[in-house]
Amino acid sequence: MNGGFTMAPEVLFVPTMGALHAGHGDLIRAARKMADGLGERPAHVVVSIFINPTQFDEASDFDAYPATPENDLKLAEEAGADAVVFPSVSEMYPEGVPVSTERVDYGALTSSLEGGKRPGHFDGVVAVVRNLMAQVKPRWAFFGEKDWQQLAVIKRLVQLEFEGVEVVPVSTKREPDGLAMSSRNRRLSGSDRRGASALYSALKRVAESPDPPLKCAEATAALESLGFDVEYFSVAQGDSLESEWVSGKMRVFVAARWGGVRLIDNVACRQ
Ligand code: PAF
Repeated sequence: MNGGFTMAPEVLFVPTMGALHAGHGDLIRAARKMADGLGERPAHVVVSIFINPTQFDEASDFDAYPATPENDLKLAEEAGADAVVFPSVSEMYPEGVPVSTERVDYGALTSSLEGGKRPGHFDGVVAVVRNLMAQVKPRWAFFGEKDWQQLAVIKRLVQLEFEGVEVVPVSTKREPDGLAMSSRNRRLSGSDRRGASALYSALKRVAESPDPPLKCAEATAALESLGFDVEYFSVAQGDSLESEWVSGKMRVFVAARWGGVRLIDNVACRQ
């Protein structure tokens, strides 16, 4: 109680599509740590689990997306969540799942890289995050840097539509061999799983080279010689996704299919 009034709890929000892994654990722990640091202010760490149909550009990817609700609950609780919500499709889309969602145009943020390769993907992400934010009303929302472009798109959405909400980025969690943790990795088996780490090695080689844009074609050819089907391997500014070189701002981004799975990753350029 504060002067006779009960303070409304602050909400620290971790939106996910489930199939939680240690990378999600880091997001939830970051939210827990911040909540615990708020002192007397009541705070709730809320995790949502909703496999959003409108952000999948391939029906087969949506069908294959793993659902592991019991494991998710356990992981979320152990990482410090106060509540885990599982919205239904009809709660998120009361008028039915739209065939296409409202077009979102944030320039290069939505048109480059993932935006170019997955038409409609960011339209679906923005639609669902907008809806979740409106319902959960967070003060802070946590997103992983593995989906860097998504993070940049959501920062723009929040800047435009959710005054007072802060987006908190959380570093990519990697396996010991460097592979970025992802719910889709569980579809990689045996030698495919081992071979997948070549993606991170290629990213690092390019990011640490004196001229990363020059090295992208070479890295693409090297990955393709191993059997990767590379969709893009490019350098862009981390905040705007524009491709002009600005020292200190650049990141290397890759998307490639390997072992039947589409993998994405990114790292900062050294300079
Ligand atoms: O990153 C994800 O898991 C999803 O894209 C998100 C942000 C939960 C929206 O469905």
